[in-house]
Amino acid sequence: MHHRPRRNRKSAGVRNLVREVSLSANDFIYPLFVHEGSEDEAVDAMPGCMRWSLTGLVQEASEAYALGVPAVVIFPAVDDALKNQTGDESWNPNGLIPRTIKALKTACPELVVVTDVALDPYNSDGHDGVVKEGEIVNDETVEILVKQAVSHAKAGADIVSPSDMMDGRVGAIRAGLDEAGHEEVSILSYTAKYASAYYGPFRGALGSAPKAGDKKTYQMDYANVSESVRETILDEEEGADMVMVKPAGAYLDIIYRMKQTTTLPVAAYQVSGEYLMIKSASAAGWVDEKAVVLESLTSIKRAGADIILTYFAKDVAGWLKA
Ligand code: PBG
Repeated sequence: MHHRPRRNRKSAGVRNLVREVSLSANDFIYPLFVHEGSEDEAVDAMPGCMRWSLTGLVQEASEAYALGVPAVVIFPAVDDALKNQTGDESWNPNGLIPRTIKALKTACPELVVVTDVALDPYNSDGHDGVVKEGEIVNDETVEILVKQAVSHAKAGADIVSPSDMMDGRVGAIRAGLDEAGHEEVSILSYTAKYASAYYGPFRGALGSAPKAGDKKTYQMDYANVSESVRETILDEEEGADMVMVKPAGAYLDIIYRMKQTTTLPVAAYQVSGEYLMIKSASAAGWVDEKAVVLESLTSIKRAGADIILTYFAKDVAGWLKA
């Protein structure tokens, strides 16, 4: 036999030499939830995740940073009393997110702070945009998203990350940031964000589920591939610095396709449902948590992701360091 591929698998040393993809803590953005309370609360549907108090969140982010995780993305649980139809609280300069950004930057100036730009945590309808007569109105929403992004930039965010899927928001946010003097703030666009049942636990964590209807008129149909290419081209034209696929594990073909389409860095979001499936199966003793987490994240990277948003970021950084 001329070819014995097993020779390249014969020992750990040889396997280490020929390995094509390696995970690093540097690949990760760590998603964290914050609320107004002074207590850290467990998130029922996401065992191991917390709705952090400001102090708790700063501590958690600093620990992750010390383990080598360069970035966090922060999501607010907003009191119902602050929600209205137009999500005005989303651009309050003294709101929870601007205060969280400042606290993070004070405690850990080198940590990359990413913020989510969308209206669903602030909107009494639980949609990412303004609802009028049952429609999610695009252009009016984009104007609010620009104000939200600028308020995050003013507070010190390094990267704003629109997750709303309105048309034209990347270009509008870029123009708005530049006009406000924040040309150094980057845009990580949720470019191909699918209307996915895997977001369920996240909506529970933030109390942000839509009050009526679903998100299918703005998030993408999971049956489509070419549409992700089109969204990538548009986001690139509009000035995105990084593009994203979401969810990740069931969308490896989309990640691969996006990586072939653009020279921009590609991110992928291993979302709450993916996290929960691994957590619950391993809590039941049915799979080995560490092994499955490492395999799932390596596969996401192998598909073409340069950056991975994952609730496992801190755990994995610890394992990689050990
Ligand atoms: C909302 C947003 C969602 C997630 C991130 N930003 C939920 C949604 O679109 O309904 C999901 C993240 C996750 O499930 O982990 N703009």
